[in-house]
Amino acid sequence: MLKRKSSGVQPTEITPRSVYLNRRAFMTGAAAAAIAGVLAPSEEAYADNRLTTVKSPLSLTGVQPTSLQDITHYNNFYEFGTNKDDPAREAYRLKTRPWTVSIEGKVQKPQKIDIDSLMKLRPLEERIYRFRCVEAWSMVIPWVGYSFSELIKEVQPLPEAKFVQFISLDDPNQMPGLRFSPISWPYSEGLRMDEAMHPLTLLTFGLYGEPLPNQDGAPVRIVVPWKYGFKSAKSIVKIKFVEKQPHTTWNDQGPNEYGFYSNVNPNKDHPRWSQKTERVIGASIFKQRQPTLMFNGYEDQVANLYTGMDLKKYY
Ligand code: MTE
Repeated sequence: MLKRKSSGVQPTEITPRSVYLNRRAFMTGAAAAAIAGVLAPSEEAYADNRLTTVKSPLSLTGVQPTSLQDITHYNNFYEFGTNKDDPAREAYRLKTRPWTVSIEGKVQKPQKIDIDSLMKLRPLEERIYRFRCVEAWSMVIPWVGYSFSELIKEVQPLPEAKFVQFISLDDPNQMPGLRFSPISWPYSEGLRMDEAMHPLTLLTFGLYGEPLPNQDGAPVRIVVPWKYGFKSAKSIVKIKFVEKQPHTTWNDQGPNEYGFYSNVNPNKDHPRWSQKTERVIGASIFKQRQPTLMFNGYEDQVANLYTGMDLKKYY
């Protein structure tokens, strides 16, 4: 990833909803919007909007989720800037309705699905997952969504579909970061079909029981909890079923730093830093670093996808 200034985010504990609606960030956004002459976010935009969710056996139990304040103010979303605090300040510009996701490529039922229909396709589950960024920090996030495999079954891939590609929105009118970065947009990520079909792979619409905040990838993103966070593309507009391994944004940027697989692997260092440990965002100073687990702790569930593969070669 590119070098950035620190965001100065302070460690916080679980925060009541009324407190996490960060007034300061809101005011900064409003001021910037006033200067830019665009509509600022209104407090009504934060009106209570809880999603109905069911329990999931695939959710972690007995873990303390990261505070919503940290989850929404320490983000990587380069379309809104390269600093960790840019997305919280800039992502109010993203218009998430109307929104259509186009399903294309090697499928029997290619289609354009309206986001609200996509959300209603299956019951939404709350899934608390570990989330590990390639930059050696981690969070625990209570996502809301359903297994991506449910959508795959619905659209019926053809036998020649071997990979799935996820493509994010790239609209410079809504995403100021697109103009100031060397990355070739749109953001693109991909999975092998068996990885995409794995029940842990979550088509994600919310977190902490509410629709995704824009900075976390509204209105729909993918979350692949055993892989580094950059595999989890945000604000998806296109899902393509393809025969060949698709190009992916970070692999294009630095092929020897960011592989296609990018499974969390403490035994394979990034060329510029160790992956053995991770900084726990929001933890007390006494618990700030912890050992990184193989497959981010999901080894029992996913190791069989990689039998016989050298995971140092296929990083
Ligand atoms: N998706 C898009 N479209 N653009 C991005 O810059 N950043 C990735 C991933 N998905 C990114 C993206 C990276 S590097 C990480 S670590 C996670 O999103 C961060 O997700 P979060 O901000 O919700 O924690």
